Amino acid sequence: MDSAHTQYFMQLLSTHRSIRRYKPDPIDQTLIDTILEASIKGSSTSGNLTGFSMILTRDDERKARLYDMHEQQEMILQAPLVITFCADVNRTRRWLTLRGARDNFNNFEGFIVAAFDAMILSQSVALAFEAHGYGICYMGTTLDACIEIAEFLELPETVFPVTSLVVGVPDEEPVKRDRLPLRAYVHDETYQPPTDEELLDCYKDRDVQGWERYRSVGGEIIAEMERLGITNLAQYYTSELKYSPEQTLESSRDLWRLLVEKRFAAGAGEA
Ligand SMILES: Cc1cc2nc3c(=O)[nH]c(=O)nc-3n(C[C@H](O)[C@H](O)[C@H](O)COP(=O)(O)O)c2cc1C
Repeated sequence: MDSAHTQYFMQLLSTHRSIRRYKPDPIDQTLIDTILEASIKGSSTSGNLTGFSMILTRDDERKARLYDMHEQQEMILQAPLVITFCADVNRTRRWLTLRGARDNFNNFEGFIVAAFDAMILSQSVALAFEAHGYGICYMGTTLDACIEIAEFLELPETVFPVTSLVVGVPDEEPVKRDRLPLRAYVHDETYQPPTDEELLDCYKDRDVQGWERYRSVGGEIIAEMERLGITNLAQYYTSELKYSPEQTLESSRDLWRLLVEKRFAAGAGEA
């Protein structure tokens, strides 16, 4: 591999970031097909079973429906393309059946493996669009609205929406967001829990920068933080303004309900 190749890839990683404002310019269909095909071929997948599907939404009226499901995140309306990535073993199971093989993967492990495949693919797709100058943002709200989205996209048994990407021409140039220092993530040979002091030291910059970033939005959010008695970033994260325990529990229940409905729950909870 030549060093230009290496440098290009490292640069792609270093400029990878979420874009939340888009120009309306459409994306050429041939380019979309090229990027998706290259991403599929360039992504690892368990057993080469490719346990994923992608559903493309470009129609404005259908995007408006998704916008409501995704907590009205404006970028869904702005960006010309929304891709919903699904864990999908339906296709594989039909092939197994048609070829006289035993049915399988309609169980919890089947879901986890297919969900990983879909997530791995989504990051390849994200990087490939970025390599062509487009911007992307993941939509975690896919999980919160999984029941409505599954119905809207007419997902059959053993197909489950795990994440979405909005894709389009960036209309902003956000600064790169921080990550924790490497020592927070990497352990040598065995897991080595940090002391409380070491852990807080890893979050030292995040505690300041993240707090300032949310506060810089100004206006209503500051008033809301004050009303709720939020005095630091950690408290903000689990407040009702971001990821409240009530909301994540409610989403967890919906996820489980849909896993059961889509026949992905077998084996889970059994000793
Ligand atoms: C699975 C997943 C779901 C996400 N969901 C949302 C979302 O719903 N809305 C949003 O604005 N950003 C979303 N993001 C973007 C993250 O907030 C973002 O990746 C993170 O803050 C780091 O910033 P960066 O991507 O610019 O480096 C999501 C990211 C991931 C990986």
